[in-house]
Amino acid sequence: MHFRTIIEPFRIKTVEPIRRTTREERKAAIVEAGYNPFLLRAEDILIDLLTDSGTGAMSSRQWAGMMMGDESYAGARSFYRFEAAVQKITGFKHVIPTHQGRAAERILFGSMLKPGDIVLNNTHFDTTRANVEYRKATAIDIPIPEARQPELIHPFKGNMDLEALERILAEQGEKVPLVMITVTNNSGGGQPVSMANLRAASEICHRYNKPLFLDACRFAENAWFIKVREEGYADKTPLAIAQEMFSYADGCTMSAKKDGLANIGGFLAMNDDELAQRCKAMEILGEGFPTYGGLAGYDLEAIAVGLEEVLDEDYLRYRIRSVEYLGERMDEAGIPYVKPTGGHAVYIDAKAMLPHIPWHEYPAWALSVVLFLEGGVRSVEIGSVMFGRQPDGSEKPAAMELVRLAFPRRVYTQSHVDYLAEVLAYVNGLRDRIRGLRMVYEPPVLRHFTARFEPAHGALVEE
Ligand code: F0G
Repeated sequence: MHFRTIIEPFRIKTVEPIRRTTREERKAAIVEAGYNPFLLRAEDILIDLLTDSGTGAMSSRQWAGMMMGDESYAGARSFYRFEAAVQKITGFKHVIPTHQGRAAERILFGSMLKPGDIVLNNTHFDTTRANVEYRKATAIDIPIPEARQPELIHPFKGNMDLEALERILAEQGEKVPLVMITVTNNSGGGQPVSMANLRAASEICHRYNKPLFLDACRFAENAWFIKVREEGYADKTPLAIAQEMFSYADGCTMSAKKDGLANIGGFLAMNDDELAQRCKAMEILGEGFPTYGGLAGYDLEAIAVGLEEVLDEDYLRYRIRSVEYLGERMDEAGIPYVKPTGGHAVYIDAKAMLPHIPWHEYPAWALSVVLFLEGGVRSVEIGSVMFGRQPDGSEKPAAMELVRLAFPRRVYTQSHVDYLAEVLAYVNGLRDRIRGLRMVYEPPVLRHFTARFEPAHGALVEE
């Protein structure tokens, strides 16, 4: 086709109204929520970009598939459909369904880690890190150095630092039971990992006899970036690219709430028979029998269809383009963000936007709250609130202070993105008047979910 406009490749069959509120209403709501966007009622939000996890719209084929769900306790037809869909893409021998991604992490680390062990990853997502640390092991992030420079453009900023990988395996290999690579690298800006990096990391891991697992939540988006950015892949299908990505790994954890296009679900998959036995034993303790793993038969059907739809080229082109489009609007407004735009989200660089707010007054958190207050937009902080508390009890600044605007799949249209760009430009105009926050309640783990705050200097946005 010679027309350039990239459209949403679907039409809308069911609609869910969203509600405009006044600034006064939003002010009352955020005060009530202890200045924590996680504690807001979703009804009070106009555009919810808190996460792309479980928030997507399912297709008519998925809903139809759900009617075919087989709810048998063991050996359900839906399980075999699900297993075949996963195996077609990953090639892994054992497929263990779980209620979501972190359950796969808990089972994997529960079966493989002992106290004192080390897990390497390009960047651990927060639940991945928490599940490693829960086993009294150490989670070490080894992204390429370029990943820590928000302004720098690099086609595969999600890559793992291969020298660091080799060095740590050479020096402390006996403590490393597995290596993980997160595709795309969520906490590092939704940035992709190249095929060359996956291949080389796999070669190093296998030379040291270490299994490589992918955290595959956004494998299809990663495959798309490989197709459009890496030499030799332009003519390959996203499916063929995904298959090659998985061929370098020995297993994966997956949250089907992302590139499974489902509202709930996940899985753990691997080739090792003995490890699979141990994982299935743990699965029964926490998730359920290994052919349903905490899911209904109809959930398994929705995921099986979702895994197929997510590799559709029109879908992936639209998906990645809508995120890029927001980035272009932000460039016009002079708003600093992690470049280039990622697969599922745009990450505003709050450290650059609000240099007058010190890290211990949580600049990215403050910005996230102001986006809700001014525009009814919910985002999430990926900064010193999420990552500042250390296992030894001390508090340290996070590597970056980011606000993530994550795009639910197949939910919002271009006019929503235009509105969002307008809100961002408006808030950027207020930047000098935005002030920091003080944490007044801190829970013992994963503090960002339930912490409560107050403005550190009277008002959050100075009059
Ligand atoms: N790994 C990555 C890279 C993730 O982004 C997530 C979830 C998980 C693992 C855990 O999966 O939520 O199904 O248990 N990320 C969501 C997010 C929550 O907002 O980025 P889960």
